[in-house]
Amino acid sequence: MPPAAPASPVSAKSAGLRIAVVGAGIIGLSAALEMRARGADVVVYDSGTDLGAGATIRSAGMLGAAFEWAVEEDQKALAALARHAGMIWPDFAGRVERLAGGGIEFSREGALVVARTAAEISWIEDIAAACQARGLPVQRLTAAELKRLEPGLSDDIRGGLLLPEDRQVDSSLVLQRLGAALSRHGVGLRLGRKIERIVGGALFQTPDGDRFNRIVLATGAGALPEFVGPRGASLAHGLPVSVPVKGQMLALAAGAAMPRHVIHMREGYIAPKARWTLVGATSERGRQDVEVDRAAIADLRRRGALAVPALAQAEEVTSWAGVRPGTPDDAPLIGQTAIPGVFAALGHFRNGILFAPATAEIVADQAIDGKVSPLAAAFDPLRFDNGGEAPHSP
Ligand code: GLY
Repeated sequence: MPPAAPASPVSAKSAGLRIAVVGAGIIGLSAALEMRARGADVVVYDSGTDLGAGATIRSAGMLGAAFEWAVEEDQKALAALARHAGMIWPDFAGRVERLAGGGIEFSREGALVVARTAAEISWIEDIAAACQARGLPVQRLTAAELKRLEPGLSDDIRGGLLLPEDRQVDSSLVLQRLGAALSRHGVGLRLGRKIERIVGGALFQTPDGDRFNRIVLATGAGALPEFVGPRGASLAHGLPVSVPVKGQMLALAAGAAMPRHVIHMREGYIAPKARWTLVGATSERGRQDVEVDRAAIADLRRRGALAVPALAQAEEVTSWAGVRPGTPDDAPLIGQTAIPGVFAALGHFRNGILFAPATAEIVADQAIDGKVSPLAAAFDPLRFDNGGEAPHSP
């Protein structure tokens, strides 16, 4: 008998449904957990041998539901998705920790936004005003109040904000715990298996001969598998070309001089974890290599040290580069593709960790229950489609 699905209302529509998720990053794993919770039989494939070896493991694990969207006037749908994701993250974190039997360093400290210059003071004022306009909690802090919260802040910091509902996790722990939770609850994890083609028909068949009613594509910045159907339709039909955005990151030794909160500066951020303090990140649009450039890493340290001077001398543990999976409008692609039964969960750009539980709900709603929530409509993966040849129906 297969292991029980984690407790959640099981949808009658999931009975007998077999779903293949392609991609074992946080998006694919979270979608798999949600669909399993709703009673589907789920298998996750990834060409890598480790979970989340693309953007997830290289991320800073920040859940910037307010910071990332506060001043993005033209991104209302994204702001709504971010807000919803921020609201459900505490439950998601609790669920993953409970199912896996271990923690993910979900921190409720909140995030600080700090300003040194007059231009930065005006920038944080804009963020505060935008948060207030949207009903997002925000607290203005004087330099002295900031110092009380973070004694290691530079004396040059003139003021800032506390965003109490912006949180963070350790991405690598999230991956480990999601993997454990899925294995314990009967989700197959087929790692090191590159799906080069999915053969279409009434059911989809993967190269290992297994058959599925639904496919969820969660390949991040990686290539989509090929699809071979009766009319040779491509899985990429109607989807925009992915926009890679390289990010380089520095990890410094943790220690007493390091901050406790996520700290956003105008140019970059500091994200302290138990095992190290991350300083990020470059944003290099169009770059998909993962080469580390020493000058860029030195610049991250220099910028971080303007906010927290101890960063200038802290020991470097490591540094790395990753590729954010961007899209032409910076919004994710979530929902049914041009091929019925194939769903996208792609293009989460800077916020895959934040969006993961919200995307998981949207994918499960659509793939299992056939429902498109109002929150999801703006992320239709076919919104860039210029009306090419119609796809085949399985
Ligand atoms: N979300 C932070 C980054 O993409 O660097």
